[in-house]
Amino acid sequence: MDYNWKKFWNFKALSNTDFHATGRSNVDIFGFFQTFHDIFNYLELKKKDNLLDIGCGSGIYSYLISNFVNSVTGIDISQKMLNRAKKNTINLQNVKFKKMCASKLIFEDSYFDKVLIYSVLQYLDSINSFNKVLENLNKIIKSNSKIYIAGMPDLKKKKKYLDYVKNNFTKDAKKIELEILDKYLWFDKKELGIILDRMNLKYKFEPLSKNIFQSFYMFDCVIYGKK
Ligand SMILES: C[S@@+](CC[C@H](N)C(=O)[O-])C[C@H]1O[C@@H](n2cnc3c(N)ncnc32)[C@H](O)[C@@H]1O
Repeated sequence: MDYNWKKFWNFKALSNTDFHATGRSNVDIFGFFQTFHDIFNYLELKKKDNLLDIGCGSGIYSYLISNFVNSVTGIDISQKMLNRAKKNTINLQNVKFKKMCASKLIFEDSYFDKVLIYSVLQYLDSINSFNKVLENLNKIIKSNSKIYIAGMPDLKKKKKYLDYVKNNFTKDAKKIELEILDKYLWFDKKELGIILDRMNLKYKFEPLSKNIFQSFYMFDCVIYGKK
């Protein structure tokens, strides 16, 4: 799983639209709206919240959320994505961005009330790095903080996704996806459960709504704070 995702996302960040830059070429508008519903539903945003947007990409969700919380801090490994995010949110006072990796978070202890991680952790190199993300988060969130990890590829559905790509993707898109499919970190819910239990976190796995294209091979994980 040794793949240069930083290079991949720096390249994607040069795309014409934010949809393409963030890998949403196959998402339709209602699937996209659904993601807003899910974020508001699971994170229960409050005006006093300081929110961390991990893997913020071009700032789509940082932008959306900023109006409903005290502050948004977006982090990403791709400087080109962050440049795009800064440009997209130039008029917002309570949003800031930092270049940082999800598994090396450096923030004040117990600072964040809410954390959003939307379609990011499949780009980690191993389950050990996932462990590190949670260990880091455990320090910088409050004890009742909510974390919404959206779009985790389900190991059990990998074959289904492979068949889908073979049958539905065309030309270059198919070639690229077949190459990188094995580089994603595919998650085993049982293994995740053991890690989350060991960290003393309260959590629930949720299916993606059917109007989100990735629902047939991904799931969400919502963390409701420390036990
Ligand atoms: C599919 S895009 C999602 C962007 C954004 N969350 C959204 O939904 O619009 C994945 C993003 O995660 C970032 N990323 C990948 N690995 C990361 C890591 N280890 N730490 C922080 N960001 C990462 C990429 O640079 C990219 O911007």
